[in-house]
Amino acid sequence: MPVERSLRVADAAVIVHPDADAASRDVADRVIRIVADAVAARGKAVLGLATGATPEKVYDLLADRVARGAFSFRDVTTYNLDEYYPIQPLDPLSYRHYMHSRLFGRVDLAPNRAHVLDGTVPEFAAAEHAAWFDRWIEADGGLDLQLLGIGRTGHVGFNEPSDLPPAEFADLPTRLVDLHPTTRADAVREFGSPEAVIPRALTMGVRQILAARAIVMLATGAKKAPIVAQALKGPITAAVPASLLRTVADKVVWVLDEAAAAELG
Ligand code: GLP
Repeated sequence: MPVERSLRVADAAVIVHPDADAASRDVADRVIRIVADAVAARGKAVLGLATGATPEKVYDLLADRVARGAFSFRDVTTYNLDEYYPIQPLDPLSYRHYMHSRLFGRVDLAPNRAHVLDGTVPEFAAAEHAAWFDRWIEADGGLDLQLLGIGRTGHVGFNEPSDLPPAEFADLPTRLVDLHPTTRADAVREFGSPEAVIPRALTMGVRQILAARAIVMLATGAKKAPIVAQALKGPITAAVPASLLRTVADKVVWVLDEAAAAELG
C-alpha cells in the first residue's frame, strides 16, 4: 500500500500523500489535534477556514466525526478567508452558503461564532467592515490554525498577485479586492458563465493569515502542480502570494497529493 512521504523544499515542510483522500484525512486529523490542544490550553480554539473544492472532503470528515460523537465544535470559533462581493448569504454561490451546507449546518458550532465576511455591506462601509473582521480575530486571541488552499494564480484567500514589495504585501489587511482573470476563469465552474462570475471579493488580509499560530496548506490535483512548485521553489514574491508562507515556514505545513507535488522534483 502506498504511503505518505515527508520532504523539505527550501525551508518548507511538505507531506505528500498518495491521493487527495489521504491528504484530506491528514488535514482533518491536524484540525482535530490543533483544536484539542488549543481547548486544553485556553479553553477555546479559533480556526481560519477556506472554501473551494479542495477542502470539501476535510469538512465531510469533520462532520462525520461530530456525528459519531468523536469531535465537537462546542469550543470553536471560526473565521472564513473570503466572500464574493456583493453577494447575499442565501445565494447558493456565496461562501456563507457553502460553509453552511458543508460544515456549519452539520456540526455543533454556535452560529454566532461562525464568522464569514458580509457580502451585503454597502461599498462605503466595506473597509470598516473589513477592519472590524480583523479586530474580531485579534479580540479572539488570533487564529490557532489557518486552513488554506491555493488558487492557480498562487492566491491565498483572495489575495491575488501584486507588484508590492513582499514586506508591504505581507502587511495587507482584510479588504475589498478585484479577482485576477485566471481566478475569474476558474470560477466559471461554479457561476456557469464568464459574465455571471462576481469579479470582486472581500478577503482576509495576508497579515492575518501569516499571523496564525499554525498554517495548513492543502493542495491536490495536477492543476495545482505548477503553482505549488513556483510557490515553494521560486522567489519569495507578492507575484506568487503563497510564496510568502515561506517567511513563516516553521509554522506551516504543505499537505499535498502526488499529483500536486509532481513538479517538486
Ligand atoms: C478559491 C478560494 C480560495 C481557494 C482557491 C482554490 O477561489 N477563494 O480560498 O483556496 O480559490 O480553490 P479550489 O480549492 O476550488 O481549487
